[in-house]
Amino acid sequence: MNILAIETSCDETGIAILSLQDDKKIKVLGNALASQIDLHAQYGGVFPAMAKRAHAEKIIPLTIDALTQSSFLNLSNSNLGEENREKISSLCHKEQEMIEPLIEFFNNYQKPEIDYIAVTVGPGLEPALWVGVNTAKVLGAIWNIPIIPINHMEGHIVTAVIKEEEKDLYSLEKLNLPSLSLLVSGGHTELVLFDGLEYQKIGLTRDDAVGEAFDKVARMLGLSYPGGPAISKLAALYRLKSLENPIILPRPMMYSSDYDFSFSGIKTAVLYTIRDMTDGNTRELNSEEKESIACAFEDAVVEVLLHKTFKAIDEYGVQSLILGGGVASNTFLRESVSKKAENFDRKIDLYFPKPILATDNALMIGVSAIWQVLQDKIKTSAPENLVADGNLSL
Ligand code: KG4
Ligand code: ZN
Repeated sequence: MNILAIETSCDETGIAILSLQDDKKIKVLGNALASQIDLHAQYGGVFPAMAKRAHAEKIIPLTIDALTQSSFLNLSNSNLGEENREKISSLCHKEQEMIEPLIEFFNNYQKPEIDYIAVTVGPGLEPALWVGVNTAKVLGAIWNIPIIPINHMEGHIVTAVIKEEEKDLYSLEKLNLPSLSLLVSGGHTELVLFDGLEYQKIGLTRDDAVGEAFDKVARMLGLSYPGGPAISKLAALYRLKSLENPIILPRPMMYSSDYDFSFSGIKTAVLYTIRDMTDGNTRELNSEEKESIACAFEDAVVEVLLHKTFKAIDEYGVQSLILGGGVASNTFLRESVSKKAENFDRKIDLYFPKPILATDNALMIGVSAIWQVLQDKIKTSAPENLVADGNLSL
């Protein structure tokens, strides 16, 4: 069974071709990704309208790239009929710039050996999501292939639970339940319980997402977008010096009775700290000062995340802890989770995504569809019923 997966929820355009083999292993046949990081770096964040335009520009070339990697593309010698051209125009009436390239694509290539199209329908930036959703609708309608709508957050969860057997070959691990997922990305900070049947969101951020806080603090320190990796690098340099950090930032909501988070307070505290250290912003921070702020910030964020996560593990009898989302590639977070789990009073299985798969990509969307197939939970959608939902919940 072959799946073509599409991801466009934020600032990465991704197309992946996966095959579920008879032995239940997942073979990656093609994987194409275009990052908009350079585009958004100059503004320090993602602008939805610009993200949408960039997705629309890249999605067809990436589809050709991924299908070519899979050796699934064969040239066609017949052109699309009038009815199909009209179908494309009507499905892409909000992405006018995609109509001609799509028609050319179908004129050039035959239907590939794809059984399902999996596409992120939310959560994310709605204009960006629609590019992927409308592409899926067109491919599904013209090739007559069923579409599986995928929740981006489920993609982050499932990506942590795959084991790399060899290059481009994965298997899905059997999860001990209940599992708890700590989902930390640029748009989300959530604690999600899973009992094998349903997801239950037990906590979420009340303001900024963790990745967003990383990005904003990075901007204050003059570091480029996305800020997570840059902050993490400075913090690690400071830890190597084994100094006592004179900066201690607040741990908002750490001891609140619920499982919610708040990160905007830490960010504001960083702003005031920088102002005080630079005599009212009259001088630049030196590199050691930047490192100490990055370290204090990472310490505060990780301590709050860990405290709430392990409180939930204890209360809900959690057997498996899954880390997902872009911030899950943070080394200090991974090491701190591992250390805390080692010292916990019972054994907990830990699942971390391969760092390169922690940030957005299409492979995670295809794997999520395969996870549904293997659990007999697959729900396909007719192209006309497919909608993008920026606030989609698990
Ligand atoms: O999951 P993702 O690729 O996109 C969203 O769905 O939001 O996450 C992107 C976020 C960005 O905010 C980025 O700064 C953060 O993940 N990030 C990190 C690291 N790598 C990426 N944050 C902390 N440490 C990292 N190493
Ligand atoms: Zn994401």
